[in-house]
Amino acid sequence: MADRPFDRPLDRPARIAVLASGRGTNLAALLRAFPADDPVGRVTLVLSNVADAGALTVARDAGVEAHHVAFPDRSTFEAAALRQLEQAQIDLVCLAGFMRVLSADFVRRFEGRLLNIHPSLLPRFRGLHPQRQALEAGVATSGCTVHLVDAGVDTGTPLLQRSVDVLPGDTEASLSERILAEEHLAYPAAVRLLLQGRGTRAALERTS
Ligand code: GRF
Repeated sequence: MADRPFDRPLDRPARIAVLASGRGTNLAALLRAFPADDPVGRVTLVLSNVADAGALTVARDAGVEAHHVAFPDRSTFEAAALRQLEQAQIDLVCLAGFMRVLSADFVRRFEGRLLNIHPSLLPRFRGLHPQRQALEAGVATSGCTVHLVDAGVDTGTPLLQRSVDVLPGDTEASLSERILAEEHLAYPAAVRLLLQGRGTRAALERTS
């Protein structure tokens, strides 16, 4: 069987793209964790479907190429994004607060090298407002999951999870904030494991 992407480490730093729609704190965590001289990888391209997304400012402030890619409809966005990703010779695509669902075709092109971070312990609480879902379900523990993206929403193989306790009196905002702090550790760690060829062995590694 052919190697899957990153079964073996690359012999050069991986070129990482981040797709984001919002403020970009996970992008900032990835930028901090992969400095320009990191032999494993570096963020070389940031794309956002939102013209004034904080993530674009975070990228530009860090000297990283960043573009707004308009989303009049999914296929127009994906064609334009694909051109940018190919031009920049991207190895790995990280969704970080990217609020659009990508087509099965797009996902297939990046199979094994397209990641997402979701603020719940998947498979629980897929989709929107997972922190609110966790509070409503009354769980004692929640957290975040870095997973490979497949054609479903938040259904791909988990690579790494970090958990947090749900505290008495937690609100959606307080729980989200504590989970976010774990996200900032989980995403860089999962990316590093994957790029080092240890992504599948680390599958479902859980830390808290
Ligand atoms: C994070 O909670 C992430 O898990 C979710 O969207 C949020 C993005 O936050 N998918 P940021 O833009 O990275 O700060």
